[in-house]
Amino acid sequence: MHSSNFSLLDQLVIKADNALKAMAGGRTEHRRPSPADIQPENDLSQQEKRRSAGLMRVNHTGEVCAQGLYEGQALTAKLPEVRDQMREAASEEEDHLHWCQKRLGELESRTSYLNPLWYSASFAIGATAGLISDRISLGFVAATEDQVCKHLEAHLSQLPDTDSKSRIIVEQMLEDEARHAHLAIEAGGVRFPAPVKAAMTLTSKAMTVASYYL
Ligand SMILES: [Fe+2]
Ligand SMILES: [Fe+2]
Repeated sequence: MHSSNFSLLDQLVIKADNALKAMAGGRTEHRRPSPADIQPENDLSQQEKRRSAGLMRVNHTGEVCAQGLYEGQALTAKLPEVRDQMREAASEEEDHLHWCQKRLGELESRTSYLNPLWYSASFAIGATAGLISDRISLGFVAATEDQVCKHLEAHLSQLPDTDSKSRIIVEQMLEDEARHAHLAIEAGGVRFPAPVKAAMTLTSKAMTVASYYL
């Protein structure tokens, strides 16, 4: 059944179900295997493991937020093609979510305790942006993905050289997020002004610090 045949309440229940699956590590039918699967596991010191785990936990939280954002936007997007594009991107983010979660397990670490909070906030922001207009919503995607790309680039310089598994995951995510940003602008997204982007940078810094430790 097409989602437009569901009542708003039904749709919210479906979203809540997606949220639970997102935080549990994504749905089981993953389309792309982790690029880390074919990388050798090198010997990492305890300190290197902790560092990698902190960074990959931040990346995992970013993917939980991406799920919330895209699901929220898909709920309120007006044009069906925009809804479809949001769902397509959300399914790629699910791959990322799963890759990060798997890597955290290999690093003998855990996901952030704050994920339910970040998911809810991102969902609300996405749904609100979609209510305002599709162009704002797409612009928000582009601005967010730009931020994510900057984070991922920074993480590539911070991850231990020995951790080739985490590095290849981040490299593939960087490629995908840059494409998401590009597609959102191509689809008609507005380019956000610098002050809005600066506010977003501050918010994402707070999220990054919290998720590194918590
Ligand atoms: Fe992602
Ligand atoms: Fe993305």
